[in-house]
Amino acid sequence: MNMMLRRLSRAATAGLVAAAALTAAAHSAEAADTLGSAAAGQGRYFGTAVAAGHLGEADYTATLDREFGSVTPENEMKWDATEPSRGTFTFTSADRIVDHAQSRGMDVRGHTLVWHSQLPSWVGTLGASDLRTAMKDHISGLMGHYKGEIHSWDVVNEAFQDGGSGARRSSPFQDKLGDGFIEEAFRAARAADPAAKLCYNDYNTDGVNAKSTAVYNMVKDFTSRGVPIDCVGFQSHFNSNSPVPSDYRQNLQRFADLGVDVQITELDIEGSGSAQAADYTKVVQACLAVERCTGMTVWGVTDKYSWRSGGTPLLFDGNYAEKPAYDAVLSALGGPGGPGEPGGPGEGTATCTATYTRTADWDGGYNGEVTVTAGSEPIGSWTATVTLPARQSVSALWNGTAAFNGNVMTVRPSWNGALAAGTSTTFGFTVTKNGSDAAPAVGACTAS
Ligand code: XIL
Repeated sequence: MNMMLRRLSRAATAGLVAAAALTAAAHSAEAADTLGSAAAGQGRYFGTAVAAGHLGEADYTATLDREFGSVTPENEMKWDATEPSRGTFTFTSADRIVDHAQSRGMDVRGHTLVWHSQLPSWVGTLGASDLRTAMKDHISGLMGHYKGEIHSWDVVNEAFQDGGSGARRSSPFQDKLGDGFIEEAFRAARAADPAAKLCYNDYNTDGVNAKSTAVYNMVKDFTSRGVPIDCVGFQSHFNSNSPVPSDYRQNLQRFADLGVDVQITELDIEGSGSAQAADYTKVVQACLAVERCTGMTVWGVTDKYSWRSGGTPLLFDGNYAEKPAYDAVLSALGGPGGPGEPGGPGEGTATCTATYTRTADWDGGYNGEVTVTAGSEPIGSWTATVTLPARQSVSALWNGTAAFNGNVMTVRPSWNGALAAGTSTTFGFTVTKNGSDAAPAVGACTAS
């Protein structure tokens, strides 16, 4: 099913959509006190891994919906979940997460297209030429299904060996196609969804070390030869054996200096109390110190469902209570009154404009796109308002986070807040017409 069909089928559930809008409105009053909104005030997204199986748990979804601006399906987009037998795609669980996220104005990270793990056994049985075709078909099948709906994709995950010989890890792709499989995957990904940021993602690459230098050299080679790569993901799974590196910021910065974005993609830090809180602070500060660090994702909502639950590595405990690490992250993100927030530094000194176009139209709905352009000064973040005509409701939003007040939708950036002078970004949304074809009014754009 293509994106438009997915949107049409969602638009049919207009009642649910209205309920979601009300939920968003109820949350807007406390917006500045949450991880997602505090990060948005810094021009970053703050996300979490999500498991479809927990979305029916009220406390889980309440915490998710209140705090986070981006979600990464923890397992549901992996190869074994999406193409268990060749050419047969199953998207039910991943769709549940994407639909949930979009109805709450959250963005989605895609994880992951090509990885040696959670790979169905049929892939390993193919010969080189068949494997190349299967890899490209998997990328186009999965990315095509979510075309335009994913802000960043982990195109290739964990392709380098530990230790830092610079060699790639053994996998069906590496063993049969050689080093070039990574480049082929990125080229296929660009063709499948040109709007998505394409990331290479790995672990034990968070500090400056031999393994991260091997990845660095690959990214440098890609950018010099025009191989499409937009970002590098740093998983950031930390514990006492693998602590937050002292040169974390320096490492993020050297990748950013290659001209790619960097993202913290699977953050969790085993521990508790003030020591854990201090480690989380270091990570958030490192990201905020690097202009091209566009966002952070923690690898789960609550300790009780963490893949390393014994290490209690997340921000909410098993009862969804905020841990000291939560307070530390919120405060490091600036919280209320931080840079770009009302009363914070940078407020009111820069300008932006917002213009609207309708990009798609069908019987029951349409897609709108707003282009936000910075004025003569760089901006750290922006806010744009869209007033909907009577009866219309928003069923999906991407590249932004929304708060509703009656028919007025206030949109802030998710990952795309920081704009150089004169440059633009866009956010988009799907509207259910409910019998009204009138155009929405785009109001003031406020920069900070
Ligand atoms: C983990 C999930 O959290 C687990 O539920 C699953 O059993 C195994 O995979 N690096 C990655 C993630 O890129 O996909 C992994 O997620 C954690 C390590």
